[in-house]
Amino acid sequence: MSKEVTTGFVCSECGYTSTKWLGRCPQCGMWNTFTEEKAIRTHKTGTEVARSSVLSAVPYEAEFRFESGISELDRVLGGGIVHASSVLVGGEPGIGKSTLMLQVAAGCSARRKVLYISGEESSSQVRQRAERLGLDLNRINILCETKLEPILYVLDTEKPQIVIADSLQTLEKDDIGSSAGSVTQMRTCCMEITSHAKANGTSVFFIGHVTKEGVIAGPKIIEHMVDTVIYFEQASMGVRLVRAVKNRFGSVDEIGIFLMTSHGLEGVADPASFFISKREETTLPPGIAFTAIVEGTRTFIVEIQALVTDGKSGIGRVYSDKIDSSRVLRVAAILERHAGILLANKDIYINVAGGMKVNDVSAELAIALALKSAYSDKGIDSKTVSFGELSLAGEVRPVGFADRRMKAAAEMGFTSAIIPESRNNETGIKPKICGRIRDAVNYIS
Ligand code: TYD
Ligand code: MG
Repeated sequence: MSKEVTTGFVCSECGYTSTKWLGRCPQCGMWNTFTEEKAIRTHKTGTEVARSSVLSAVPYEAEFRFESGISELDRVLGGGIVHASSVLVGGEPGIGKSTLMLQVAAGCSARRKVLYISGEESSSQVRQRAERLGLDLNRINILCETKLEPILYVLDTEKPQIVIADSLQTLEKDDIGSSAGSVTQMRTCCMEITSHAKANGTSVFFIGHVTKEGVIAGPKIIEHMVDTVIYFEQASMGVRLVRAVKNRFGSVDEIGIFLMTSHGLEGVADPASFFISKREETTLPPGIAFTAIVEGTRTFIVEIQALVTDGKSGIGRVYSDKIDSSRVLRVAAILERHAGILLANKDIYINVAGGMKVNDVSAELAIALALKSAYSDKGIDSKTVSFGELSLAGEVRPVGFADRRMKAAAEMGFTSAIIPESRNNETGIKPKICGRIRDAVNYIS
């Protein structure tokens, strides 16, 4: 093998490489993100024999997945941890990544050999945390190390079946010439540990910190190198949501819901009504509408809140961080054009009770109704739920899983539903059909 050392510049945001320094990255458009890094290329020389094999000759993996012991996490992963897979676990500092992964280590340790690599905390800190969580200390091995070579040595000699690397940003390979946390270091360490894990049937979790903008600090390229990427998201105080944004072995629409308690993260097993507050009144305060959203195999009832005030600057603004502001703007424009509700010079605030981010298009009708209710200062009936997508022409369109949404609403005690159509409804909920947004807002009187 021959070695060749080259110096290059790497964009710390997207991983774009260039032979000279650039002020602005041509790939992601960010300014001042280029750092100089040495790259060492090794060229294999000599003849190495490679051979393909027929698919039917590939050994069959009987146990493809196994449970992590944390059912909410298994749900997000698509039914459990996949044998020899790599998972990137992202989230802001302090959100609970290390806590959850230590719980996973304990959950798997009865049947599998687990290694927790800590580059951030000392072994006694990890021990203290495990004690506080009430975990079995005898079955989890800890290695406090940041250097790649000794880590690979331990993987080779001890052959753990599950490895947790906390965190990716602390890992470093000696001869790379850039510091831990740089693009090249993260890429190299992730790649070497992953390929070692694949070859040995080990499942590996990399913990990665996320910047304020919600991306793993470092390039997207890390996301491409692993099989699965899951992100922690903070909903309301103490509530943590875990979502998959990439999953080579399952869908990405399941969410895991956890509560941070004094003994770690606890899964919320029955979350259908978790995000709404029960109300005694028959009419809701103005500005509130309930909707039913579908996330993977589960259906949730959520409360959309709207507040409409006179625009302070003469031009209306939208303040909404749980629902995409452009969606709210579009709904406001549809209301203005097709239902005569003048919102152009108003400030609009939209919130989702419980802090869950809502991306489901089915919430558009409820956003419109919450806005109309806030605008006219008239409350909606507290036992009414609504769902439907709005078209720019002012129509209310049917959405998928209507029967599941109706069933969830019926179970939560709702008695009527403002919806675009009703087919074989067996729930006993009274449908209030509306084909156009103009008809829908008339249900608020
Ligand atoms: P941690 O897992 O260290 O976060 P991360 O690895 O994502 O940076 O979680 C830290 C927070 O969780 C910390 O503020 C303390 C809190 N916590 C609890 O509330 N209960 C517990 O049992 C534990 C271990 C932590
Ligand atoms: Mg941590």
